[in-house]
Amino acid sequence: MPNSKAEKKVVLITGAAKRVGAAIAQLCHQQGMRLAIHYRESAQQASTLCAHFNQQRPDSAIALPADLRDNDKLEHLISEVVNKWGQLDVLINNASCFSPMPFAKVTTKVWEEVIASNLKAPFFLAQLAAPYLKKQQGCIINLVDIQAQRPLKNYSVYCIAKAGLVMLTKSLAKELAPEVRINAIAPGIVLWPDDETEFNETLREKIIARTALKRAGTPQDIANTAVFLINQANFITGQVITVDGGRSLGY
Ligand SMILES: NC(=O)c1ccc[n+]([C@@H]2O[C@H](COP(=O)([O-])OP(=O)(O)OC[C@H]3O[C@@H](n4cnc5c(N)ncnc54)[C@H](OP(=O)(O)O)[C@@H]3O)[C@@H](O)[C@H]2O)c1
Repeated sequence: MPNSKAEKKVVLITGAAKRVGAAIAQLCHQQGMRLAIHYRESAQQASTLCAHFNQQRPDSAIALPADLRDNDKLEHLISEVVNKWGQLDVLINNASCFSPMPFAKVTTKVWEEVIASNLKAPFFLAQLAAPYLKKQQGCIINLVDIQAQRPLKNYSVYCIAKAGLVMLTKSLAKELAPEVRINAIAPGIVLWPDDETEFNETLREKIIARTALKRAGTPQDIANTAVFLINQANFITGQVITVDGGRSLGY
């Protein structure tokens, strides 16, 4: 059943055509919210998801392309949402570039790609969205990672970016208060990377063995947390909610 408080809320989710972003979009839509589904390469999936939402409820979703490395596109993204619905209630910074790169091989191009999606775009999207979010007493949710606290070998730039995104969450929680709440979700494994080479079967079993609940989570676990932060967490800001089945307890 849609939550009446959530009905009419306008939510922009980056990287939402598939995987975790799409699961968050699905649950937000079920709650009655209107969705701006941002994508870069997954045009087909974004369009299918959007059509599905609009079939269920007319005029409840739009799909917006943008490469988050391009600063000019960020402004366009926010203005498209506001032009469409006249408001923005929630920004979810979900898009992420996650690929292994040993320290010695990191180039400035790799650095810029990983920092752009995981840190720079969330910062400037928040800046552009802030006036609209303030008007709505809205919120920002940043998808971070438990690896922001405990580095993952061969993912130094990603871990640095996510650690920065945690600090962004805390800094903006002070700067945008009291009108806007900013929180982060730190997933453990909820969906294995599509590229199976790095996370092979042996590594997957090892990660699960070291997880207190002895299983991977699901995108639904993250979606549930996002909807909680949007609808029910009115006195929570500047926090990182870890959703990892106990993986970060450290055994
Ligand atoms: N999956 C997990 O178990 C897990 C664990 C810990 C943390 N997280 C975090 O949770 C979030 C969602 O995870 P996920 O696995 O679903 O993410 P993902 O599949 O790795 O990435 C989500 C989307 O980000 C978009 N993206 C990447 N670079 C972009 C760029 N330069 N410009 C625009 N879009 C870009 C891509 O969109 P297109 O496909 O449209 O190009 C991609 O589909 C991420 O922030 C991730 O770091 C996930």
